[in-house]
Amino acid sequence: MKIIVTGGAGFIGSNFVYYELNNHPEDEIICLDALTYAGNMETLAEAQKNPQFKFVKADIADRTAVYKLFEAEKPDVVVNFAAESHVDRSIENPEIFLQTNVIGTSVLLDACRKYGIQRYHQVSTDEVYGDLPLDRPDLFFTETTPLHTSSPYSSSKAGADLLVQAYHRTYKLPVTISRCSNNYGPYHFPEKLIPLMIINALADKKLPVYGDGLNVRDWLYVEDHCAAIDLIVRKGKVGEVYNIGGHNERANIDVVKTILQELGKSEDLIEHVTDRKGHDRRYAIDPTKIHEELGWLPVTKFEDGIKKTVQWYLEHREWWEHIISGDYQNYYQDMYGKKEVLEYSRA
Ligand code: NAD
Ligand code: TYD
Repeated sequence: MKIIVTGGAGFIGSNFVYYELNNHPEDEIICLDALTYAGNMETLAEAQKNPQFKFVKADIADRTAVYKLFEAEKPDVVVNFAAESHVDRSIENPEIFLQTNVIGTSVLLDACRKYGIQRYHQVSTDEVYGDLPLDRPDLFFTETTPLHTSSPYSSSKAGADLLVQAYHRTYKLPVTISRCSNNYGPYHFPEKLIPLMIINALADKKLPVYGDGLNVRDWLYVEDHCAAIDLIVRKGKVGEVYNIGGHNERANIDVVKTILQELGKSEDLIEHVTDRKGHDRRYAIDPTKIHEELGWLPVTKFEDGIKKTVQWYLEHREWWEHIISGDYQNYYQDMYGKKEVLEYSRA
């Protein structure tokens, strides 16, 4: 099978590239990635030694480049990870989110229609369902929960999901969609909560927790996510949506404290700062469907996954030091320099 993996130089896409090369050595993987700030060829250095792997630098919204690639390669499967993925950046500058996440997806769908495809898989997010209240721990997102987005990021992802479903209904394109909770693990770009906190703590810098820190995310180890996508692509039912999550809900403040504990650093480093605008309170996935239909269950518990992740960042300093020595410093200053420090008692 020949699989185009878009966004394969980013966090989850690169983990998926390695998952496929390791678990399906007979398949060919073509990574299509524009190498934005979030794409990193160092991440793909090992993959590039594998003759089953090929890298093509292109923007998924560039119709000419995408059609040329499809014409030359005639892929069997497309798995679309390519996206602008950071909520905070979407709040500062929504436009690029619409361009990549919506227009880019539409170009890929058109290419699939034009050249034919066995499966187009859209990697979506639980954020399309909006958020759940903290005082209703009995509530979870299911595949039939209405879309109800909060940020420009989640709105652009929901727009893409609707297009994917429209191409299935209208043109009978063989699609699937997965909506996953927050991932963590190797190669996570340090603008996101877990790697940012690990890297700041290692430098004895303050750890900027938004608002009261009680917002809840449902953490999934990235390899478990890759295994789920692999199953959906190969065995999932065309036209279906699958939620992916593993009942690993944690308040942000507890995640940050766990990281400090792993690193033997003081909780005095924690600093509550101005909250994110429109900050979603709680995400929680009900993964019953993917479990019952495809037999998927996550294998990594948060307690083990966070240890492995901290260890990975300790052992791969060079990887993240290259990132934070570049434009990242300007990003950090722009994003955090203007935040106010809030007073919260350290209970
Ligand atoms: P990431 O930001 O780490 O990587 C995105 C990748 O896409 C980068 O390699 C970037 O260069 C590439 N890219 C961006 N714009 C592009 C364009 N126009 N053309 C081609 N390539 C482009 O993102 P991630 O965290 O790995 O997320 C991957 C996918 O998974 C996204 O679609 C995201 O919405 C979804 N998702 C992420 C999470 C999470 O916790 N990170 C959870 C659920 C769903
Ligand atoms: P993030 O990793 O950006 O993922 P998402 O917004 O997609 O869930 O953020 C995870 C949670 O951590 C979210 O509630 C926002 C919070 N957060 C902070 O408190 N401080 C930070 O510096 C960052 C980046 C996030």
